[in-house]
Amino acid sequence: MSELVTLSKNGDVAVVTVNNPPVNALSPGVPEGILAHIQTAAADPAVKAIVLIGGGKTFIAGADIKEFGKITSGKKTRDVGLYPTLLAIENCPKPVVCAIHGTAFGGGLEFAQACHYRVAAPNAQIGQPEVKLGIIPGAAGTQRLPRLAGVVRAAEMCAMGNPVSARQAHDWEIVDQLIDGDLLTGAIAFAREQAASGKPPRKTREIADRFGDAAENAKGLAELRKQSAKQWRGMQAPLRAIEAVEAAARLPFEKGCKKEAELFQECLFSTESKGMIHVFFGERTVAKIPDLPKDVKLIDIKTAAIVGAGTMGGGITMTYVNAGIPVVLKEVDQPALDRGLDTIRRNYGVSVQRGKMTQAQVDAKLAMIRPTLNYEDLKEADIVVEAVFENMELKKQVFAEIDKVAKPEAVLASNTSTLNIDEIAASTSRPQMVVGNHFFSPANVMKLLEIVRGKQSSQEILATSMALARRLGKVGVLVGNCWGFVGNRMFGPYMREAAFLVEEGSKVQDVDATLYEWGMAMGPLAVGDLAGLDVGYKVRKEAEHQIPKGMRPHLADNHLVEAGRYGQKTGAGWYRYGKGSRTPVPDPEAERLIAEAVQAGGVKQHPATKEEIIERTIYGLVNEGAAILDEGHALRSVDIDIVYVYGYGFPAFRGGPMFYADTIGLKKVYDRVRQFEKAHGFWWKPSPLLKRLAESGQTFAEFDRQKWGAAE
Ligand SMILES: NC(=O)c1ccc[n+]([C@@H]2O[C@H](COP(=O)([O-])OP(=O)(O)OC[C@H]3O[C@@H](n4cnc5c(N)ncnc54)[C@H](O)[C@@H]3O)[C@@H](O)[C@H]2O)c1
Repeated sequence: MSELVTLSKNGDVAVVTVNNPPVNALSPGVPEGILAHIQTAAADPAVKAIVLIGGGKTFIAGADIKEFGKITSGKKTRDVGLYPTLLAIENCPKPVVCAIHGTAFGGGLEFAQACHYRVAAPNAQIGQPEVKLGIIPGAAGTQRLPRLAGVVRAAEMCAMGNPVSARQAHDWEIVDQLIDGDLLTGAIAFAREQAASGKPPRKTREIADRFGDAAENAKGLAELRKQSAKQWRGMQAPLRAIEAVEAAARLPFEKGCKKEAELFQECLFSTESKGMIHVFFGERTVAKIPDLPKDVKLIDIKTAAIVGAGTMGGGITMTYVNAGIPVVLKEVDQPALDRGLDTIRRNYGVSVQRGKMTQAQVDAKLAMIRPTLNYEDLKEADIVVEAVFENMELKKQVFAEIDKVAKPEAVLASNTSTLNIDEIAASTSRPQMVVGNHFFSPANVMKLLEIVRGKQSSQEILATSMALARRLGKVGVLVGNCWGFVGNRMFGPYMREAAFLVEEGSKVQDVDATLYEWGMAMGPLAVGDLAGLDVGYKVRKEAEHQIPKGMRPHLADNHLVEAGRYGQKTGAGWYRYGKGSRTPVPDPEAERLIAEAVQAGGVKQHPATKEEIIERTIYGLVNEGAAILDEGHALRSVDIDIVYVYGYGFPAFRGGPMFYADTIGLKKVYDRVRQFEKAHGFWWKPSPLLKRLAESGQTFAEFDRQKWGAAE
């Protein structure tokens, strides 16, 4: 029999163990192995009861996600899935007890539900997280779970996807018994008790008294629909999950399962699910750097130094100490240092207020920060991260100082958002040790880290940065050294188009609302206000000479900045803000200033449709992304997608800008870009790669494959 699953005996109890490390995923062979062993045990007269358990550190942590991709790409047909296997387990005439430790997620929890009883280690976790991949449970999870936990709780688990602790699951009667001490011993004893009771095994599908009150359920589900529309804005899967669970209380088990299968199929073949699965695998793909040998020696990072305790330096410091790496924090003078430390303390204070950390934990973190005003104190650090103002001359001076004191083997990283890493590196005696580590604001929260490869950055430095990103809880994406790297460079056309749409007559709040509804975490103009309109203004002023004569410059946002409206920090930008508030309020005064600028510039007025708002802004991202890819400043299109999903609030269910363009069809995207070029000239030069792919009927995903071969 399959080695993935083994059968042993403990007296009159058979033990079926899943051994598919690391997480006992339901790869081909596992479900079949479990069923075969259970049937063997059922046929053995010496066996009175059966325990199903996971070997190693966990029960079955979920489905093998690669299998979903095989089905949607047509490499494999989805027959009837796990449904009959689970039914056969449930039909076993001897009691089957599932013993859960670690996690029982997705298909793992559906296996557990098909067993007659469940026991669990108190620190185990269970959940139906399928919604995070844009699908719903597909092996009767939406039908059995409400028979155990009630309709509303089951719907919440399936629609929100959050894990539930074993204790909670015990309270909710999903788990029959918590077992302190050795789980297998406890499970065997429990199984023996069930066999001795002489009662027929309890089939979950036949439990009918736990659904809950119909009127209460209707109220609970209406509330849940609202909640999931907020949390999973724009997505279908959570609503389908609720619909499937609702059907469980209404239909006989078999019919309910048919309904679930229909909804599952609909979700699996949706672009929403393909987008989310793309992001899931993308996060793993970006960790693979084709020209970095696997055995590059990593620099051991035990301590760090951060230069600059402003917005970013403070957040980066928190990121390091949260990962257990002590930090020396350097500033220019005592007031700046005090300000930086105060902000860090305040931020940790919020975590204490919210019950996420204890004061003792915060004190321990704060004790890991050593403030200083002297470069000399950086000499022990294994990595120095510079986060001073975005000014090349200043950065060069700072790096020259760092170069004087840092250990020869220290990583020298800059958090610059746009500046040339090679120029910064040239101010040191060791450009091979210099790299960009571009965090996103707030640095202790945002998951993205762009790792900028300088011309001379050594393999050790790059590999260390990638490994360090993981240790810091970030997703590291290697990017090339061009202005703004990947994320900020693409953000330029996106923000420009949002501003231009307003200049052409769309309302600020309409542009933002359209993109928010489409799935972006925030509207672009509200983002502009958050980041500070003066930042883009400065950049534009420096690049003004590059705009050909007769081409339209930025009118409205320049005018706003010149009127002292820098965004949230001045209480007004595209919107106005109440004192101390971050909530954007549409502002007639902004409208007046915009109209003034537009009139002076003679811009023709035609408010855009929602479709045009999306095409202008999102295709702006795609066209620039294609240029970046063509130039080799991103390794693969999926790297760009991951930058946007993790750094810029791009909706995961659309898979990232490049994946989204593939789903629209590059020909259609290219045709629109050409129309925009006709209307706006200089600003919309189509990327040669976009043109090539569109004309040859290819996708960005195919481009990736041709360049690097199929992803593993
Ligand atoms: N703010 C963002 O959203 C963001 C996001 C990503 C990257 N960045 C980049 O991070 C860097 C810092 O930006 P910020 O927003 O934190 O700026 P900030 O103005 O909040 O902080 C800069 C800090 O650097 C300090 N400083 C200046 N010279 C110094 C020196 N010689 N030694 C020590 N400290 C010195 C200043 O006193 C100030 O506290 C910039 O390069 C910026 O482009 C910013």
